[in-house]
Amino acid sequence: MELNTIGVVGCGLMGSGIAEVCARAGYRVVVREINEAFLQNGLGRIQQSLGKAVARGKLSQEQADQAMERIQGTVYLADLGGCDLVVEAAIENMDLKKEIFAELDKLLAPHAILASNTSSLCITEMASVTQRGDKVLGIHFFNPVPVMPLIEFVRTILTSDETMAITRAFGASLGKTMVTAKDTPGFIVNRLIIPYLLQVVQIYEDGLATKEDIDAAIKLGMAHPMGPLTLLDFIGLDTTLFIADAMYDEFKDPRYAAPPLLRRMVLAGQLGRKSGKGFYDYP
Ligand code: 3HC
Repeated sequence: MELNTIGVVGCGLMGSGIAEVCARAGYRVVVREINEAFLQNGLGRIQQSLGKAVARGKLSQEQADQAMERIQGTVYLADLGGCDLVVEAAIENMDLKKEIFAELDKLLAPHAILASNTSSLCITEMASVTQRGDKVLGIHFFNPVPVMPLIEFVRTILTSDETMAITRAFGASLGKTMVTAKDTPGFIVNRLIIPYLLQVVQIYEDGLATKEDIDAAIKLGMAHPMGPLTLLDFIGLDTTLFIADAMYDEFKDPRYAAPPLLRRMVLAGQLGRKSGKGFYDYP
């Protein structure tokens, strides 16, 4: 099956990145936000990222303009009715995702595939509200989407071989490397990195070292692109806590239990870059 038009639900940080890489790969893209202000903000982010890619010599100005022209923004879910594949990248709320999946299931043609970019929620539960469980899977991108080369595919016990084959060809067409995981919270990357990040918050809370020294140790001693506290601010402390709680709920394993400081920082609105303050300040 040929994929021509890709739908993206949500034009936040992840949704805008997904829309951008799809348009850059030559697909027509319909991206839906819940209101005009959020939509314009997301489209602006795509324009900015394309501009950066041109400035860095990754794209010509003509290619960037053509990519932008392939993207249609909308505030109506019904405008995604003609898509061959829809990637949902709305907020991490299962009730909302189930509403979106149920509505898209009615709107889309029988051949269309429905994917979620969730980092931790159960894909099988989203599939359960549709009549097309064999065409539902997780397609988990990494931030910043145009830069990070990985996609995690999440296969449920219902997902068909055909759906996997079609979406793997789609991932390859975006120039990404793909890995496949079972439908359990955190998949591969977050399953491994979340316990590490929680441990980092714990040792910081215990006073083992300053935040600068913890970050320098891992950045320079391990050649990571960012120190772990900078990475936590980049991912978002609320997102990290959400994933940790989802993993703890499922596995009841203390490795996924959030340390008190993380929960308190989230309660205090210190979410990282997005709120202007996390472990560091972002004026
Ligand atoms: N389009 C195309 N390429 C771009 C681009 C764009 N919009 N913006 C930047 N690039 C390219 C640059 O040209 C450069 O490429 P080069 O190495 O070939 O020159 C490369 O990307 C790096 O860009 P910059 O020099 O602007 O930025 P930095 O070197 O400061 O790196 C970073 C920024 C990529 C964010 C790096 O710090 C990094 O990799 N950090 C770790 C990010 C990470 O771990 N992400 C995963 C988070 S977890 C997640 O998303 C899962 C979720 O479920 C929680």
